Amino acid sequence: ALPFGDGKPAMGFNTWNAFRTDINEKQIMKIADLMVSLGLRDAGYTYLNLDDAWSEKQRVGGKLVANKERFPSGIKALADYVHSKGLKFGIYGDAGTMTCALYPGSLGYEEVDAQTFAEWGVDYLKYDNCFAKREDWVLDRYRAMGEALNKTGRPIFYSLCNWGVMEPWLWAPQIGHSWRITEDILPTWDNVVKLLDYSVGLSRLAGKGIGHHDMDMLYVGNDHLGEYHPYGPFYQEHKMHFALWALMKSPLMVGHDLRRINQSSLDLLLNKEIIAINQDELGVPGDLIWQQGTRRIFAAPLTGGARAVVMANFQTTQTQYPMSNVTVYWEQLGLRRDQAAGVRDIYGGQDLGVFRGSFSAAIATHDVAVLRIAPLEGPTNDGWRPWHGQ
Ligand code: GLA
Repeated sequence: ALPFGDGKPAMGFNTWNAFRTDINEKQIMKIADLMVSLGLRDAGYTYLNLDDAWSEKQRVGGKLVANKERFPSGIKALADYVHSKGLKFGIYGDAGTMTCALYPGSLGYEEVDAQTFAEWGVDYLKYDNCFAKREDWVLDRYRAMGEALNKTGRPIFYSLCNWGVMEPWLWAPQIGHSWRITEDILPTWDNVVKLLDYSVGLSRLAGKGIGHHDMDMLYVGNDHLGEYHPYGPFYQEHKMHFALWALMKSPLMVGHDLRRINQSSLDLLLNKEIIAINQDELGVPGDLIWQQGTRRIFAAPLTGGARAVVMANFQTTQTQYPMSNVTVYWEQLGLRRDQAAGVRDIYGGQDLGVFRGSFSAAIATHDVAVLRIAPLEGPTNDGWRPWHGQ
């Protein structure tokens, strides 16, 4: 990938999941204030990104302009406000003739639009893939904007919203900093599981020095995320969603209205140890290392030889037997069988002691145990051989 910052997955807030096209400058300024006062900025969520529908429906003098009704002060003023809060400012564009919500696209206007973004003080561009002409290769269209951004001389994080089109891991690392590997996320349990399934087996194709697979923006906080259940949505689904997006080194883009977020969802987003897995210096994405039926284990190596492990129970919540036992064996993590390792339960916030060879836990339906398994002595990460399929 093009060199950019620390090469870690981007973290921030994006308007789409929370507001769709119903965005305006007062609301964005309020979100900026809340990112600071709720502690999100200091936890690492530094980008505040406008998604689709910020512009007028027509160009003016060949340029993109802010929607007069909803952004009367203009985008530059909004970016200045966001910067004054110690945040970075992101915007949205499209590699076709129109954006998905029918605002002007940048195809053929890459240089002038990149220049406009740079003049406004944009730090991040999410570049979508709607209304592209069939004959234009996705790669050429995305490269054109990448080159235009580079020409401006302003460092702008380039997030390719290509929905997994044409195996993006094969070409996107040369062009941008992250790339979508799936279609849009929906706030349902089935969809979260589907996106996770898409991500399996791809860990070697991303990471520090390459760029990041984007599993799409978070729905942590959204009431519909749980599988339908007479007792309502469960908190477990949010825990699993957040932990696995973090472990896979997906960008962490908050997608819930911060004016209405509840404390338990906020606490999840602020969990320092989960964020540390996502932002780990080694920068190796996690992957599925074991699966039997609805029980799955995902893992990633961390700096210093520890492993982050997510043991998950995907069984339907309608079951009579809500608990499933899951065991992770040291060999699956590239550790010696007789190695003594400290096990920490991250969501539980406690050290569980020293174990040799394996660790087992009973996991409730749709729940996870997120563990940090740290060998007391040795080894390096040389033993890391993630498991890809049987
Ligand atoms: C596409 C993208 C979404 C969002 C919308 C906006 O569907 O994949 O993330 O940006 O467009 O219209």
